[in-house]
Amino acid sequence: MLTGKDGWLVLGEGSNMLFTRDFEGAIILMRIQGVNVMKEDDRCVHLQVGAGENWHDFVRYSLSMGWGGLENLSLIPGSVGAAPVQNIGAYGVEVESFILAVDVYDVVDRSVKTITHFECMFGYRDSVFKRAGRKRFIIMRVWFRLEKNRRPVLDYAPLRDHFLAAGNVEPSLMEVSEAVIGIRRSKLPDPAVIGNAGSFFKNPVIDTVDLERLVNLNPTIPYYPADEGIKVPAGWLIEQCGWKGFREGAIGCHHQQALVLVHFGGGRPGDLLELARRIRDSVTAKFSIHLVPEVNIVGEQL
Ligand code: EPU
Repeated sequence: MLTGKDGWLVLGEGSNMLFTRDFEGAIILMRIQGVNVMKEDDRCVHLQVGAGENWHDFVRYSLSMGWGGLENLSLIPGSVGAAPVQNIGAYGVEVESFILAVDVYDVVDRSVKTITHFECMFGYRDSVFKRAGRKRFIIMRVWFRLEKNRRPVLDYAPLRDHFLAAGNVEPSLMEVSEAVIGIRRSKLPDPAVIGNAGSFFKNPVIDTVDLERLVNLNPTIPYYPADEGIKVPAGWLIEQCGWKGFREGAIGCHHQQALVLVHFGGGRPGDLLELARRIRDSVTAKFSIHLVPEVNIVGEQL
């Protein structure tokens, strides 16, 4: 059944994918459903969730049940099974903090097995499922541990500012979710309206030597500490190179968030790749920082 030179590929909802050519093989649409409570006490709940569930619907369902943790990750497009692959993150929270384990079908051993949190090897937009497990594991279910008495994480300045402005010092988790939805809608294009895969590049993680060089070049550069160094926003670097709001034919750089490349319809993959290369190369030329894609590209790479 799994024929074709490209073999197989599992798709959730395809929201973080870029096909630069047709896929010659079997595309498996993951549609395993179900949210099952496996363990519960007065502090937390352990859930086993089908990989084919819609991510945002699951987030809203969990909040409606009073289970906290995923509120900052509201409205991220895609499926539950895709969440661990790129360790989705937004507004100061990464999903790995709530993942206990991932149930997979191992196509090498031809068996169903459980990959522990440790074995997932989570990193910034990274996991074993993007590396050694990419052609091996088919994610079937994800195990989450959610909290019943969770305090909101409001580290991300626009989120904190939103509640300060509203005079709301103790927002509920539902209110945090609503605020995140509002911020996302105001900044990020809806993929159902304008084609996009969210952030096109990862935010580069640099060392203090590079940071000092960049700060000398432009003292207003935003930056923040990350696990392995200092993260600088790729969107800022791209905007500094003059790309924000740029459009050529069917392809462009979003006018409110330069990290998002958009497709207005009728374009060709080659045009998008070309724009992405021009953006990447201009950032390298101006800042000596090399951007790498965040989207999963199938076919010709950048
Ligand atoms: N910025 C600019 N110009 C731009 C865009 C951003 O100067 O055009 C500056 C902002 O002013 C801010 C900083 O860059 O100081 C960070 O911007 P933002 O908060 O919008 O977040 P980001 O770093 O661009 C990351 C994630 C997003 C996530 C947001 C919010 C990555 C690759 N992207 O973007 O995730 O929603 O933080 O937490 O880490 C995605 O992965 O597809 C995605 C949308």
